[in-house]
Amino acid sequence: MKGLILSGGHGTRLRPLTHTGPKQLIPIANKPVLYYAIEDLKEAGITEIGIILGTNMPEKVQEAVGDGSQFGVNITYIMQGEPRGLAHAVAVAQEFVQEEPFVMYLGDNILKSGVNEFVDGFESSDYEARILLQKVENPRQFGVAELNEAMDVVHLVEKPREPKSDLALVGIYLFKPSIFRAISHIKPSWRDELEITDAIQNLLDSGDKVDSHIVRGWWKDTGKPEDVLDANHLILDTLDPHQEGEIEDGAVIIGRVSIGKGTVIKEGSVIRGPVTIGENCYVKAYIGPYTAIGNNSRIVGGEIESSIVVGDAVIECNERIVDSLIGNHCHIITLENHFPQGRRFVIGENSLVNL
Ligand code: DAU
Repeated sequence: MKGLILSGGHGTRLRPLTHTGPKQLIPIANKPVLYYAIEDLKEAGITEIGIILGTNMPEKVQEAVGDGSQFGVNITYIMQGEPRGLAHAVAVAQEFVQEEPFVMYLGDNILKSGVNEFVDGFESSDYEARILLQKVENPRQFGVAELNEAMDVVHLVEKPREPKSDLALVGIYLFKPSIFRAISHIKPSWRDELEITDAIQNLLDSGDKVDSHIVRGWWKDTGKPEDVLDANHLILDTLDPHQEGEIEDGAVIIGRVSIGKGTVIKEGSVIRGPVTIGENCYVKAYIGPYTAIGNNSRIVGGEIESSIVVGDAVIECNERIVDSLIGNHCHIITLENHFPQGRRFVIGENSLVNL
């Protein structure tokens, strides 16, 4: 069985972070989202992996993943170009897939339980596709499935206005090569994309069988900033702490905290886990739970909580930063000798304001 990871697309919902690189490289707990997909495939014994590249700085993906040897897999890069849909990306990969069954993994999806169970038994089954599903509160934003009692799929619609169920398609699919025939029969959707959901529906229309699994644990599509922060939260909950940097006397470390090589945590700092801090950072601040700080960052003063600092940042201020996604090379600093900024209040009787 082969693996196909989709790392194209424009990542518009994650601008400005995606102005300087593809969204699949945004770090979750200090590791690019894409790495989790590669590791899941490797864990399931899949070592021949194709990565679909788009037009948004694809060379950065090639630089970050290389030939795959760091993960123990072989990577083949496949250029899709403009994002003309998930089914288009699959069609472009036909030469790589050849006659084998394959897992398609959307490069911005992240899954707690991996894909071992999902993949199990598919190759020898008489199903032409298997989809992964999860109950969601907002099915209109996803592909939505209707199942029969045997959990086989009877109908699928991409982002329906009136969903027939609350079962959303998770971005991980199993296919046999019959999917290429189905893709050749579909037309672009209202968003002018060849939808993989329509291709699977085409399989059903031709009498092929498609089954489904429900996700165990959590799943996140990291397409929007709040989802990236949620995924960071979920991954940090499973953090396996290691400390290689220097922690000065008088610095307080509480709970599960990882500190990378060359990083110094200065006295007076409080790091309350789960927190991961990369390599070569300088920290003299309060870093609160569910925060990931990338390599070469300097954080002095103030507080950061439930946030991602991608790396190479300078944050020197006495503010409290929460629920924030701070891209590479950002500076957040307090200007000296500036006039006080005006603050606007609507305050009732007996209020107390501490500034
Ligand atoms: O996340 C699950 C959802 O993913 C499913 O419920 C939907 O049925 C499925 O269509 C898909 O919807 P999205 O609108 O979230 O897909 P998005 O455009 O974000 O693309 C998903 C990934 O695939 C992302 O990593 C970018 C990549 N991609 C996307 C397109 C359209 C490509 O590599 N090439 C493409 O042409």
